[in-house]
Parts: sequence; C-alpha cells; structure tokens
Amino acid sequence: MIALSAENACESADIPLSRLDVSAPKRFKDDTVWPCFERLRREDPVHYCEDSPYGPYWSITKYRDIIAVDSNHTIFSSERSVTIVDPPEEYWTPSFIKMSPPVHAQQRETISPIAASENLENLEGLIRSRVQKILDGLPRNDTFNWVDRVSIELTTQMLATLFDFPFEDRRLLTYWSDVAALTPQMGDQIDSWEKRKVVLSECLDYFTRLWSERVNCEPRADLISMMAHSPATRNMEPREFLGNLILLIVGGNDTTRNSISGGVLFMSQNPSELRKLRDDASLLPGAVSEIIRYQTPIAHMRRTAVDDLTIGHKKIRRGDKVVMWYISGNRDDEVIANPNSFIIDRENVRQHLSFGFGIHRCVGRHLAELQLKILWEEMLKRSLEVKVVGEPERVESNFVHGYSALPVQIPG
Ligand code: HEM
Repeated sequence: MIALSAENACESADIPLSRLDVSAPKRFKDDTVWPCFERLRREDPVHYCEDSPYGPYWSITKYRDIIAVDSNHTIFSSERSVTIVDPPEEYWTPSFIKMSPPVHAQQRETISPIAASENLENLEGLIRSRVQKILDGLPRNDTFNWVDRVSIELTTQMLATLFDFPFEDRRLLTYWSDVAALTPQMGDQIDSWEKRKVVLSECLDYFTRLWSERVNCEPRADLISMMAHSPATRNMEPREFLGNLILLIVGGNDTTRNSISGGVLFMSQNPSELRKLRDDASLLPGAVSEIIRYQTPIAHMRRTAVDDLTIGHKKIRRGDKVVMWYISGNRDDEVIANPNSFIIDRENVRQHLSFGFGIHRCVGRHLAELQLKILWEEMLKRSLEVKVVGEPERVESNFVHGYSALPVQIPG
C-alpha cells in the first residue's frame, strides 16, 4: 500500500506550488512522492519548477497530457536527453531513443526482431526452464533477498541470451546497467561522471570484442550481430555503439527486474488479489499488466520543446525541459478508476503508461510481459508462498523506480 503519512502529505501541502520540486530522488526512496503528484494533478497538472538541481523543468502529471506530449515528437524532441538529467557534453552518448525519424526508425527496426512474436516463441521454453531452476533452487525457511536471487538473476540471464553474451560473465551486465542508470546502490563507488565513464569504457571494450568476432561471421539472431550487419548501425562511432548498448542493457534489465520484485510485493500486500489469481489462472495476463502499471518501473521520460506550444493553458517555450511523469499518469483517476488500488482484473488493464506512447514506445514490452507471465505461471503451479518479511529497500532515483532489496521467506 502507498505510504501516505500525515507528515508527507503536509510537507507537500505546505510548500508553495512555485517551490514544489517533485524530482527529489529521496522522495522516491522513501516512497513519499505520491502526495506531491496527487497535488500537482489536482492543482497544477502542467507545473513549472523554476529551481531544481536539474535546472528549471515542466512536470506533466495527467494521463492525457502525457499522451499529448509523448505523441508529438516533432515539438517534443528526445534528442538532447530522455531523462531530467543533462549530462555534461563530454559524457553524452547518442542512442536511438535520443533520435528522431528517420534514423530512429531505422535503428529501432534493426533490433526489433529480438522482441517479435516469432522470437518470443523461440525464447519461451528457455525462459521457462530458467525460471524453474531459479524457483526450485530458492532457500526454504530462510530469509533471502528476492531482488538478487530472482529478479536480477532472471533478467540478467535473459539479457545475456539477447546479446549472446558469455553466460559466466552475465553479472557484468547487471553492474553496467546500475552504473549506466546511475542508481545509487553504486553511489559509494561511482559518484562522478568520470568514474562512470571509466566503467562504461570497460563495457564498450568488452562488447567491441564481441562485435569484432561477429561482424565477420554470418548474421545471427543476437543484438550484437543484428547491429553489426545492419546498414543502419554497422558504421556507428564507438560513442553511439556505447549509447545503444546502454539503452538495451538498462531497457532490458532494470525495468523487468523491478516489475518482478513489485509483483511479489503487491501480491503480498493484497492477498485477495493473489487468491483471485490462484482461483482463476486466466486472470494472469491482466495481472501482469496491473503489476507493470502499479510499479511503473520508469518513473519519467523527458523531452525538450523545439517550438513554443500551449498545454493546459501553460505556455511551454522552445528549449524548455518537459518531464512526463508516467508514474503520476498511471494514478490519474480521470482515466483509471480507483488508481491507487492494485486490482488484477480491472477494466482496460492494459491502458497504462509504463511503456510510454508514440514512436519511442517500448520495443521490448512483449518480452517483459512474457518473462513475468512465465514466472507467475511457474509460481502458481508450485503454489509457491512467498512471504515478504521486511520493508523493501527502494532505489534513490527519480528515473528507475524500483528496489534494491526485498526480504522474503518461503515456508518449507
Ligand atoms: C523504451 C519501459 C522492458 C528495450 C522504453 C520506454 C519506456 C520503457 C518507458 C520509453 C518510451 C517512450 O519514450 O515513449 C519499459 C518497461 C519494461 C521494459 C516498463 C518492463 C516492464 C524492456 C525490455 C527491453 C526494452 C525487456 C529490451 C529487450 C527498450 C528500448 C527502448 C525502450 C530499446 C527504446 C525504444 C525507442 O526509442 O524507439 N521502455 N521497458 N525495454 N525500451 Fe523498454
């Protein structure tokens, strides 16, 4: 359930709107961001924050306004950055999520077969056997961290397969993903852009070796081979190659990982929903969508206005930073009934913003849904009882909305 203590609510209510900065990562770590978004949706859905550690920015918090911005890629450009952070120029990496048509479409096309239905059919058996092995190897009657043992392990194994990355080195992908997304569990070691760059150049070196092996072989169905053989990507500069690697690593990793953890947490907080699912397995696809809505693993995406435009009576000017808070749009009661409740059989359950909207809509969404579906099928088959036995630890980030730890026990 949402932490909505009086103190948090007051804090948001007491701040003048003009000084309300929802982006503070600590609000996400403490799970106290919700009253701020509720207030913005109610009082100022297109909100200008003049002063923040990221500079001035607009917050778009209502479902329909987010769709309006996300679908208008000619005015709201991804090119500068897709997060609230503007990296210093020397650390900026291009990638197709930060591109416009036609190059965006060509590069997206290059890698999209990875999540096409034919490939998903091929992957289904492999995902299932891995899920079975992971679940059957979990401790009984002993507390363990679900995030590490299941969520990270499953998504990292998948990512290793998508890249055809050496399996024994797969945790490097997790490490690079955390460093690239600047999630603060890396904070002690990676606390500057320079240190981040050093780690990511190791990532680039590793992948450059894989590229060199594959570019001279017949094209294969892994992401590196796809990029090495496509006219849209085969001549990328190292910086662009790294940018696309980061996109694919973070895209395929943090997001699904946090939906897997969130699902276990929400079901344990809402036992009647779990009972519904146990009684009727046909509710599973809806449950997967509801988990992804309720979690909203990517809290926001950002655009930069390339022209003046009015949204909700507010004049957004050319050059302004515009942040679409998916996490807030997914709780907008004008579109989603009873949005703060976790309801696996709600109407229009797929109508959420977690995968974005418009030309950059998540390319890996069906793969993410498939992984969650198989995981829950196998958990239900085993009647696996996963008890959350402590408070989850949340990530201190306004971008990756997720968990670093979820202590659980499975009775023996
Ligand atoms: C784009 C969320 C899983 C790869 C996106 C966007 C979001 C998102 C919000 C940006 C949409 C926009 O700007 O309109 C998620 C969530 C996932 C997930 C919530 C899991 C629950 C995956 C997986 C992969 C992936 C498994 C890869 C295998 C990508 C890529 C893009 C993207 C490559 C860029 C698309 C483009 O620019 O055209 N995702 N994602 N995602 N995602 Fe995902």
